[in-house]
Amino acid sequence: MTTTTTAVIDLDLPGATISRHVYGHFAEHLGRCIYGGFWVGEDSPVANVRGIRSDVVEALRAISIPNLRWPGGCFADDYHWRDGIGPRGSRPRMVNSHWGDVVEDNAFGTHEFMDLCELLGADPYVSGNVGSGSVAEMSDWVEYLTRADDSPMAALRRANGREQPWRVPFWGLGNEAWGCGGNLRAEQFASLARQYATYTRNHGGNLLYRIAAGANGDDLHWTETLLRSFDDLAADPAGSAGPFQAVSLHYYTMAGSWSDKGDATGFSTDEWYVTMARARRMEELLTRHSTVMDRYDPHRKVGLVVDEWGTWWNVEKGTNPGFLYQQNTLRDALVAAVHFDAFHRHAERVVMANIAQTVNVLQAMILTDPDTGALVLTPTYHVFAMNTGHHDAAALAVHLRDVETRAVDATELPLISASASVKGDTALVSLSNLDAETDRTLVLDLRGRDVVGHTARVLTATALDAHNTPGQLDAVAPTDHAGVRPHPRGLEVDLPAHAYVTVALALR
Ligand code: AHR
Repeated sequence: MTTTTTAVIDLDLPGATISRHVYGHFAEHLGRCIYGGFWVGEDSPVANVRGIRSDVVEALRAISIPNLRWPGGCFADDYHWRDGIGPRGSRPRMVNSHWGDVVEDNAFGTHEFMDLCELLGADPYVSGNVGSGSVAEMSDWVEYLTRADDSPMAALRRANGREQPWRVPFWGLGNEAWGCGGNLRAEQFASLARQYATYTRNHGGNLLYRIAAGANGDDLHWTETLLRSFDDLAADPAGSAGPFQAVSLHYYTMAGSWSDKGDATGFSTDEWYVTMARARRMEELLTRHSTVMDRYDPHRKVGLVVDEWGTWWNVEKGTNPGFLYQQNTLRDALVAAVHFDAFHRHAERVVMANIAQTVNVLQAMILTDPDTGALVLTPTYHVFAMNTGHHDAAALAVHLRDVETRAVDATELPLISASASVKGDTALVSLSNLDAETDRTLVLDLRGRDVVGHTARVLTATALDAHNTPGQLDAVAPTDHAGVRPHPRGLEVDLPAHAYVTVALALR
């Protein structure tokens, strides 16, 4: 017999604001993410605006994409921005040594990326090259993008057709500096981060939020070293952090080992549970990194940016191993839901997150057919769509009682994940049933405000590895959920096995 779980929510006790930027995205020059994904070129039969796919833009606008990180990833530390400006036909080529060892023609560069961001209505997050670049090169790129007057870089931008500077709020200082970004030691990188941050200047009214390449998984030493490199963060509670403002964190979920990560489809029930347990690790990582940060930064001036997260499976058979193309199923959707619950709970420290990656790479929102160009929205996309009500809302604590657990590896996996937020007279509750086999009922014990209405959505399917294809676009898509009833304590919610449910509340 299953127990009834209760979720107690005090609707009148709003916590930290959940930045919409935790719903951020990441697009690298990798496989078919940029080329064939976002960019098809002006002459393509696929409908486009100045070479950028219109259907991709439309789909991402529909989920209010808040920001887009580019050009990498590992690619960022090989990328020299001057190769990606000027007439497309005469741009130099380069080898994309990390991803398939293919030749990159730089058709998609700075102007194309900024055009994409403008079409999307998303804030650009530019990841600068520390690994193989120079301080001067990065400094010039910021000037090129953001300076208004007749400085050398502003004049060069104008010569390339863009009169006004762009607004660039987010700037990355390197990527995975402990690995593909230079194989540096934490102490060495901390010094470089200070130096690069100094020369990435605020031009005019453009204020950069500088994000130093952060830790891999549970590398707390990396985070601690970066935090120690700040001048006294404990002084002046009202002051701001400098010379950089945030540190990043990368963590990927896989069911197997690095050399055999597990397949995206056709996995076993055991693999489902291992995946959920590993997705739940994000919560633990945020707690541990935040604890280290709190020690040096009690006023929380430094942000934590999870700028790469998501599932990483073995590539689809017959595809280029360097292109990281994988299918996306209901399991991926639940992984995303679990991550968002963790980001909501850590809203006071986690200021941004970027799923890897938006189109055709790793845990994508969108898959495009290389032959026909057909576009498919993945189950993960639908979680982003169901969660837009959490953007910039205040986090609400959810106290779960009587949650069943399951032993997975050496841990106990709670079979329910939940989070909630409030914005004015509406609240949104996210509920995941991670149990692969068993339907459950959950009581929402809603306190502090009157609930005068509700609507609910559910995302599930019969098979754990259900996914969408060009022939079956809606095999996994949200539908209205009728399984919500009044209960003396609030509402009673049916949670089908392996399902994600959102309940929107109208409040008085
Ligand atoms: O997202 C794919 C790769 O994963 C990124 O390029 C790198 O930063 C990470 O190792």
